[in-house]
Amino acid sequence: MFHKKRNRWHLIKGQEPTEMDKKILFYQNKGHLVPTRELIKTPEQIEGIRKSGIVNTGVLDLVASEIHAGMSTADIDKLVYDYTVAHNAIPACLGYEGFPKSCCVSINEVVCHGIPNECEILEEGDIVNVDCTTILDGYYADASRMFIIGQTTPEKEKLVRVAKECLEIGMQTAKPYSFVGDLGNAIAKHAHKNGFSVVRDLCGHGVGLQFHEEPNVEHYGKKGTGMLLVPGMVFTIEPMINMGTWEVFIDEEDGWTVVTEDELPSAQWEHTFVMTDHGLEILTY
Ligand code: MF3
Ligand code: CO
Ligand code: CO
Repeated sequence: MFHKKRNRWHLIKGQEPTEMDKKILFYQNKGHLVPTRELIKTPEQIEGIRKSGIVNTGVLDLVASEIHAGMSTADIDKLVYDYTVAHNAIPACLGYEGFPKSCCVSINEVVCHGIPNECEILEEGDIVNVDCTTILDGYYADASRMFIIGQTTPEKEKLVRVAKECLEIGMQTAKPYSFVGDLGNAIAKHAHKNGFSVVRDLCGHGVGLQFHEEPNVEHYGKKGTGMLLVPGMVFTIEPMINMGTWEVFIDEEDGWTVVTEDELPSAQWEHTFVMTDHGLEILTY
């Protein structure tokens, strides 16, 4: 979506270059993709996203406490909608590019963007991703978790665990002045070591003032490639890990639901992070 654009870092006229300016210009001069100034959030903006993240976490905690076999995915959607508006916030998914519901609920072989539906009932052994994005006072926070309905197979349990580890490894790898490709490389290594694959067609993203901002955060790739990560940047990491092939397709009928090509299960976890001077801090805890 964004990777063909070439960003330039500009100094502010009449102002001495800061340490940050010098570092960014150093990488830019070596030919790396660097952020624009707009991608570096102010402390006020970060506080706004953090507050939105608190509501977002409340939504997912509510889902965690209510989710059970026999409920429909539309029941989950109603929980998300009601909780969000009761906290003076807006579910970002509702109406986003025509998406008809307040969250995405993606079961088993559905990778992401599953549309909640009264006829879709959760069953014992399902692995379910619920992905919610909250807008509070104009600030966006985006997170998703996996839920296991009752008891599932050891293979699906491992998939859910490894997907979570992939998110954690991505988070630990992303240091200030590292590259998106560094964290993607670490995530893919962990997935492959466990016999799983990484979805390539969808990625994490900058977030905060809009739903989807630069950079693209791919969950695979080469170290030292992709955008330079600078303190103040806010973005998601949201690896989609498949039991079989990495290849996916979009359901022709609804135009949204992303499904694995071999119909084997997929798992995903997502947080919104801010880059600090020491590393990533989670804004959706
Ligand atoms: N929350 C998803 C993400 O992590 C995007 C969902 S878009 C929707 O980026 F329209 F399907 F809701
Ligand atoms: Co996201
Ligand atoms: Co999301």
